[in-house]
Amino acid sequence: MTAQSVLDAVRRVEEAPLADLVGVSVDDVEAQMDHLLEPEIDTASLYRRWERQQWAVSDLDFSADVQHWQNLPAPTRQLMQNTMTLFFIGEQAVTDTLAPLLHAAPFEDERIFLATQIADEARHTVFFQRFFEDVLGVGGGLHAALDAISPRATEGFRKIFEHQLVDAMDLIRREPHNERAWVEGVVTYHLVIEGYLAVGGQRSLLRTLRNVGMMPGFVAGFTAVARDESRHIGFGVLALRRRIADRRSAHGSASSPRQRPGAAGLLAVVAGQAIAGIGRLGAGGGGDPCAGGGVVRGGVVGVRTQPRASPPGAVLPGRVGYSALAMVPPPSTFVPA
Ligand SMILES: [Fe+2]
Ligand SMILES: [Fe+2]
Repeated sequence: MTAQSVLDAVRRVEEAPLADLVGVSVDDVEAQMDHLLEPEIDTASLYRRWERQQWAVSDLDFSADVQHWQNLPAPTRQLMQNTMTLFFIGEQAVTDTLAPLLHAAPFEDERIFLATQIADEARHTVFFQRFFEDVLGVGGGLHAALDAISPRATEGFRKIFEHQLVDAMDLIRREPHNERAWVEGVVTYHLVIEGYLAVGGQRSLLRTLRNVGMMPGFVAGFTAVARDESRHIGFGVLALRRRIADRRSAHGSASSPRQRPGAAGLLAVVAGQAIAGIGRLGAGGGGDPCAGGGVVRGGVVGVRTQPRASPPGAVLPGRVGYSALAMVPPPSTFVPA
């Protein structure tokens, strides 16, 4: 992509109203995700995007989706429903667990952005609730959606969402002044789950459905979800980059009343190792993050997603693809203060 074509793609994604998102390719959405990782993007610009990019689940028209779904062969339906249920689990889990991260965020602009994100995650959950009920014929929310598929289909994901994410957020709830816990929470939530696990599944679902011209209601809504997620991932990287910058001025005045002098060095190590670890996840290329596989390296996150067949410490065969991650210095640059 040339610089101009990237800018065109970013504009197409950022300015599209909900009805036009069905015509926006996932490649453009990913170009826009990368754009939101640029150092000049700050929380105020992410907030302004949130105001401009509002959408309503109730505006989506699922009538064609109902027809298309019925015409799919049963095995294809089952496969897609499994993947969609993983997203349903994910959206419900992140909606339920984000509040401690907001409460403990040390900066006002971070708390404001995270408040917008909670609204987004609630909307994403409602999107899946409505889609499952109207198109798949599965009413009753996430509980009924899980009953409709084999427990094995969600085994790995449930470990992450029901234990690792919950544990990370619970530690922040119990220790809101523990900066390291907050940074690790951002890594788990914004980088591992949103920036890694979700992106691959989003890409394959949207690309497949667009290629065959099916389920326009789902495609429009899920593209809106992906656009929201790009802001969230951008915030996660921004928050970690801020801790790394604080490391460089850690011996001066603390940049937040809640932040103790000297703590920034430790946070920079956590953030730097996490980003370097996530960067290594992208080394293999290909792979489907929805299937799980690999391990988050760097020793700071503790979220393991590899299947049993993978050797311990195996590099995850997936792709993050965010150029900004590669711009962050390696962890050896950061030495505890
Ligand atoms: Fe979401
Ligand atoms: Fe999100």
